[in-house]
Amino acid sequence: MIRVVASPNIAFIKYWGKERSTDPLRVNWALNPSLSLTLSKAQTTTELEFLDSGHDEVVLEDRSAGAADAQKIRRHIDRVCLALGEKIPAAIHYRSNNNFPMAAGIASSASAFAALTWAVLACLWGRPRAELWIKENLQRVSEFCRWGSGSACRSVAGPYMLWRDEAATVQDFPLKLRDTLVILSREKKKVSSRDGHEAALSSPLLPQRLARVENRLSEMTQALQAKDLGTFGRLLEEEALEMHEVALQGTPSVEYRTEGTRRVLSAMQEMTNRDFYFTLDAGPNVHVISERNVTKDLEAILQRLGIKAELWEDENGNSPRYLE
Ligand code: PMV
Repeated sequence: MIRVVASPNIAFIKYWGKERSTDPLRVNWALNPSLSLTLSKAQTTTELEFLDSGHDEVVLEDRSAGAADAQKIRRHIDRVCLALGEKIPAAIHYRSNNNFPMAAGIASSASAFAALTWAVLACLWGRPRAELWIKENLQRVSEFCRWGSGSACRSVAGPYMLWRDEAATVQDFPLKLRDTLVILSREKKKVSSRDGHEAALSSPLLPQRLARVENRLSEMTQALQAKDLGTFGRLLEEEALEMHEVALQGTPSVEYRTEGTRRVLSAMQEMTNRDFYFTLDAGPNVHVISERNVTKDLEAILQRLGIKAELWEDENGNSPRYLE
């Protein structure tokens, strides 16, 4: 049995909107490049075993998975085996657990598909060969991960990843950033990111966004390179708000932010001399990106607003790894 641990990532420049393609090689093909920070404390642990006979057993968070989830996992395993010219297993035993609260605004599909891809390779070839192959073929592994979930292609390494076209590559910036998540709600989001990507295509704001995003990416890259946290933060917030405006103007209109989200963002925007900045995923919870530990600052904001929220502090991370 193979055990893998992988971490999710938080996007600074967002993947929002993908091609409507029937070409299987262009599945989850983003309309624009994205840039992310791989996390380390949030982790998905996945166990996988290939069997010569029997039935599939798929367990998510200690519960037998529903048909749709089980099928998604099986489809990913089969695709990776086929892409490598390997035999598809007769049956699989899969189990995965997250150490972070599900539906809390940390993208669990990214770590889940990164861990699964690592696990498949070791089930096929054993750990040493899989490790070597991954080292020499990181782009290919990233592409496999993308087939499972777009953002998963950025969880193959770290600390920073740039996803363009088929796969993501490592970026090195001289800035060590952390992500403190303000968990305002743990409700499962009403609109999946899959439906969100689709709705974005109908948004009248999307063409303008796509025209602008390359520029923003390059400015952000320069700011990170120059350790210019202020410029980085301005671009980070602009990007998050733009993604949410695109969603809001789509058909159907998608609003992930809640009253709580808006109040926290406003409170941050009103502060002068700030050295921590927000971003949002497809959910109401606020990711705060900073160099230093800002727990105390966030607790003070929440107290002032009379909002009860949990904080999840995370730091920059790296590739998935095999466990003994
Ligand atoms: O990988 P998906 O299909 O779950 O999409 C992720 C979308 C966002 O998290 C909102 C943005 C991103 O780039 O991760």
